[in-house]
Amino acid sequence: MASVPSLASTLQQQLADALTAALPDAGTADPLLRRSDRADFQANGILALAKKLKGNPRELASQVTAALPAGDLIKDIEVSGPGFLNVTLTDRAIITTLAARAADGDRLGVPPKAAPGTTVIDYAQPNVAKEMHVGHLRSAVIGDAMVQILEFTGENVVRRHHIGDWGTQFGMLIQYLFEHPDELRHGGDQADGEAAMSSLNRVYKASRVLFDSDEEFKARSRDRVVALQAGDPETLAHWQRFVDESKIYFYSVFDKLDMEIDDPDIVGESGYNDMLEETCRILEETGVAVRSEGALCVFFDDVKGPDGNPVPLIVKKTNGGYGYAATDLSAIRDRVRNLKADTLLYVVDARQSLHFKMVFETARRAGWLNDDVKAHQLAFGTVLGKDGKPFKTREGTTVRLEDLLDEAVERATAVVREKAEKVGLSEEEIVENGRYVGVGAVKYADLSTSAVRDYKFDLDQMVSLNGNTSVYLQYAYARIRSILRKAGDAKPAAHPELDLAPAERALGLHLDQFGAVLEEVAEGYEPHKLAAYLYQLASHLTTFYDQCQVLSDENPAEVVENRLFLVELTARTLHQGMKLLGIRTPERL
Ligand code: ARG
Repeated sequence: MASVPSLASTLQQQLADALTAALPDAGTADPLLRRSDRADFQANGILALAKKLKGNPRELASQVTAALPAGDLIKDIEVSGPGFLNVTLTDRAIITTLAARAADGDRLGVPPKAAPGTTVIDYAQPNVAKEMHVGHLRSAVIGDAMVQILEFTGENVVRRHHIGDWGTQFGMLIQYLFEHPDELRHGGDQADGEAAMSSLNRVYKASRVLFDSDEEFKARSRDRVVALQAGDPETLAHWQRFVDESKIYFYSVFDKLDMEIDDPDIVGESGYNDMLEETCRILEETGVAVRSEGALCVFFDDVKGPDGNPVPLIVKKTNGGYGYAATDLSAIRDRVRNLKADTLLYVVDARQSLHFKMVFETARRAGWLNDDVKAHQLAFGTVLGKDGKPFKTREGTTVRLEDLLDEAVERATAVVREKAEKVGLSEEEIVENGRYVGVGAVKYADLSTSAVRDYKFDLDQMVSLNGNTSVYLQYAYARIRSILRKAGDAKPAAHPELDLAPAERALGLHLDQFGAVLEEVAEGYEPHKLAAYLYQLASHLTTFYDQCQVLSDENPAEVVENRLFLVELTARTLHQGMKLLGIRTPERL
């Protein structure tokens, strides 16, 4: 693994050293390097520094220029305006750096973190015996992308799928199963998710009807909750059947999402059951939680209801039951103590932000979170329909996740089929590509806007070949692969001795920023910035095609090789970036 410093970071370092040399009293000064339209980069930091030291900025800028080392990096540097530095790099430096990236396999010269920590990420958390709907899409898609991105940066990542598999609602279901043991048995294949869900739905509906109409059944269901919480083996065995059946269904949906979920990472609410009592005892003994109207509560100065009265976090209800908060607090203890997390990341709907704010604050007061262990909610907004209201079916019900994915794949397959003949795709390839394009379109639409914002679910736009869509990126990739196939004997090879056209330089400079972008994305939990980077990369590529022929008889062999080198590195960067977002890049499209 070779770490390749970016051109920007090398230049930044040289400028910082030159600043220190020119002005020994300045201490460590930041040259504030930015990409620029006028040159490759502009350094704006000298202005503020000169002001602070009461010097002449333009003079200081000239001194810094003079103190820069001779070498291959800088082609041109000029003082502009009140004291900015405009820097143009040599073509040689660009190609040499990119060649080092190209020689570094999948990592593309991006070094892993020097001091990785352990992040436990809570994502893709559906609920047992319930259908997955559009609301579960974002947690899965954003969470999976964050897992891939963090792992790429070298972080130790532990995945936790905090599924809803516990609570009073199971009393009714389990009691029903006791009384109708054969109901939860679907016909077909063991691995058939649809069938599993429909049998769960059947049991859910039938037990609900009974629960609402039959007082005695209701009473038996309540007793069943007590038995469940007490760990009665027979009750647990029935509960387990619901969990197992649900997992068959979950896996089928995750499979549709082209997402890998591993069984040991599914640690639902039930997994913390044994800790709940202790969690509450510690909170009460330390005074973090207090008794209020029979419930065990945590109060916050800044959390008040509409009537102005404080709204507490209830960790234990008046009836002695534990809720969502007690489970989350116990999970924090487990993740910190047993999983040795120093970061807890929660990919959860923004509508649960108040819950997490209160849970995190409680955990801080209890000392479970502190300066060394941090928690963060990667909150996401709502998926909206074209009317701007939360996405619903025409009948006004919530949209099932599978239906939404099926429709996306269907549309995408039509798009792929249109071009299939020209590309010479087999029926099998059309089907496979349709799936990758359709699922990719849904994921990309979700990942390309900032997570916390709501977005409109618009399939027409998502599978459009123009604009900021995954299909556009997938075509960019496939086009490069097609050029590489057509290149015949000409092979990609870096030629640092060549002069570059403007579009080649722009593409090259953008390629060089992959690592810096990933660092920022991982640091701020912002996958949309990776999507934006990849879209810009594809746009630079489009400009490059417009202005530069790759395979042309008029090009000298070195130019062909160097351009093949540039597009191949672009393809690999697109592929790696898309992979981190959970999106496939078919070879032929
Ligand atoms: N199962 C919950 C839901 O569907 C999400 C769980 C989020 N994670 C957590 N640790 N509370 O809304």
